Amino acid sequence: MSAAIVVLAAGQGKRMHSNLPKVMHRVAGKPMVEHVLDAAAEVATCKPVVVYGHGGQQLRDGLAHRNLDWAEQAEQLGTGHAVAQTLSLLPDQGLVLILYGDVPLLRAQSLAGLLGAAADSGFAVLTVTMTDPSGYGRILRDAVGNVARIVEHKDATPAELAVAEINTGIMAIDAAHLKRWIPKLGNSNAQGEYYLTDCVEMAVAEGIAVKRVHIDDADEAIGVNNRRQLAEVERIHQTRIANALLDVGVTLMDPARIDVRGELVCGRDVVIDVNVVCEGRVVLGDNVRIGPNNFIANATIGDGVEILPNCVIESATIGALSRIGPFSRVRPETNLGRDTHIGNFVEIKKSDIGEGSKINHLAYVGDAEIGRAVNVGAGTITCNYDGAFKHKTIIEDDVFVGSDTQLVAPVRIGKGVTIGAGTTVTDDVEADKLVISRVRQKTISGWQRPRKPKK
Ligand code: UD1
Ligand code: CA
Repeated sequence: MSAAIVVLAAGQGKRMHSNLPKVMHRVAGKPMVEHVLDAAAEVATCKPVVVYGHGGQQLRDGLAHRNLDWAEQAEQLGTGHAVAQTLSLLPDQGLVLILYGDVPLLRAQSLAGLLGAAADSGFAVLTVTMTDPSGYGRILRDAVGNVARIVEHKDATPAELAVAEINTGIMAIDAAHLKRWIPKLGNSNAQGEYYLTDCVEMAVAEGIAVKRVHIDDADEAIGVNNRRQLAEVERIHQTRIANALLDVGVTLMDPARIDVRGELVCGRDVVIDVNVVCEGRVVLGDNVRIGPNNFIANATIGDGVEILPNCVIESATIGALSRIGPFSRVRPETNLGRDTHIGNFVEIKKSDIGEGSKINHLAYVGDAEIGRAVNVGAGTITCNYDGAFKHKTIIEDDVFVGSDTQLVAPVRIGKGVTIGAGTTVTDDVEADKLVISRVRQKTISGWQRPRKPKK
């Protein structure tokens, strides 16, 4: 559908007690206003107009990656006044979808329903029924049930306050109507504000029907004004994500204890234990098992991989059938081949590890290229940094690295080499050799350990 999009985001958000503009606070890792923009993008392709006010530059910088038009509202004189700032940027006709930047749970399908309902008369409002409607504008109907007016809580009579159907604030209005009505709005009301909602009465006076589109899920309409509401919205959003994962066949040991801050794509028969946090785009193949307490960001994890508890994995790819953890740290630009094993207290950074290689205990591998079927012993360190520059360690196929080895980069270890335990490798080693740098063992007989005199 071709509708213009207006997002109101000028509110200060005082109750957030934050230096960040309210709509930039994140839900599931994404600023609230971007949830709104993404939902809008699913139903309308126009370049949205964002109304900004307090902290405007921060908002514009934070959204610099998106294609947006901006309308400044220097003083917040009400929702009608906010829309007034956008009129010169709007087309002369066609629907305008008016959204709030602090209502992040709204579904695209609700917006599509709203636009559909507004197609005829050019005016529809999205409504919801609340058990506690206090604070919201109430939807008032005439004798035959048509929308007659919206009254703000502060202007309402006790009888009007009893109405449970409220204005979500989200509306679709034809631009021609808006351009006629907005300049006529007054501010003689309890808050001294220009109310967008007064357009309803103007429509009715002109004989234009205002359609109401009622959504059943009241959560969609929650506006965030404080950190409690932000936390509440986060939980609802996470529940939606968890349910969607369950619906496509993922096993979640506890759907309340997974956090997805981005996109999680799962193959068949994936099992995710408790307290797993995913950020960015995470792709899990078939039969992947993720143990408890794992943090995974921007990673692609192959079929049959098992991540044992307490690992941190960032910007990495992990080949099929590999086993990671417990307590492994896989850092960015790491590619682990098929059937690799990374064990406890192993840190890997910017390295390629070939198929079937194992680094099972206590090691640091950075800036390395490790071939296939390499065994890296406990306590192995790539000394990749000379204080100014990083250097590469290359270990070819079938190398055996004994425990407590230091590899002083740049260095290349040829195919099939064996490195004796405790070796400091400083020079390249040719294929199939044994390399060892170890002080010969001395055993001294008759040695007496110093002892403190007995009291
Ligand atoms: C508004 C509606 C009310 C509805 C409620 C739903 C009006 C007059 N009232 O009330 O019927 O039930 O939303 O949440 O429309 N904003 C600006 N500039 C302003 C004022 C507001 O950009 O001058 C933005 C805010 O940042 C916010 C949105 O508009 O995103 C709503 O503003 P808010 O003050 O929360 O409206 P309410 O008075 O709660
Ligand atoms: Ca509000």
